[in-house]
Amino acid sequence: MTRGRLITLEGGEGAGKSTLAARLCAALAAEGLAVVQTREPGGSPLAEALRGIVLHSWNEGMAPQTEALIISAARAAHWRATIAPALAAGQWVICDRFIDSTTAYQGSAGVPQGLLDALAQLATDGQRPDLTLLVDLDPAVGLARARQRGDDNRFEAADLARHQAIRDAFRVAAAAEPQRFRVLDGSLPPEAVLTAALAALADARQGWTAHG
Ligand code: TMP
Repeated sequence: MTRGRLITLEGGEGAGKSTLAARLCAALAAEGLAVVQTREPGGSPLAEALRGIVLHSWNEGMAPQTEALIISAARAAHWRATIAPALAAGQWVICDRFIDSTTAYQGSAGVPQGLLDALAQLATDGQRPDLTLLVDLDPAVGLARARQRGDDNRFEAADLARHQAIRDAFRVAAAAEPQRFRVLDGSLPPEAVLTAALAALADARQGWTAHG
């Protein structure tokens, strides 16, 4: 059985990742591939319960260190319950947010990257995504979109400067690993973002075929 592929979608609030995830899954399924759509934090019953804890607005607040630990615990559960079995069964996994969101959100809030790398390694047994699509968008535009559709989690409530730092951190991560990342222009209409994503995927698949 050939192992499946893990494709992660990353980006700030309102970048259009969720729409893209659904369309990408439909496109791959139309090819005859077995596809699993999932998300983080969440993606398994235990991980979804931890998502509720991390998105809740606690009166005492939640430090980025606490977020990193809970989100990593959720990832460890999600990996074992959902992602690893799917990959082992030859399925393709499309995951809305993954390790790079932790770098962008908790890393830019002050958690050292070395510790986040160690947590990611622990959560996923050292496995990394095969391809990461970063949907890049001006956070002023993304936040307006997210608020228009009624999203109001405590991360979205942060100020624009905070979201700008998150965008910058995503871009730094993408530049550091050009083999794994492709950056898509999130200001384009959803159809054009899908077209760009499919082109990026086709390009990545050529490399996988060539290198195994
Ligand atoms: P979502 O709204 O895209 O589903 O994500 C929920 C929130 O969780 C989003 O505001 C970003 C945040 N988040 C982190 O801060 N770190 C992470 O590692 C992940 C996966 C999400």
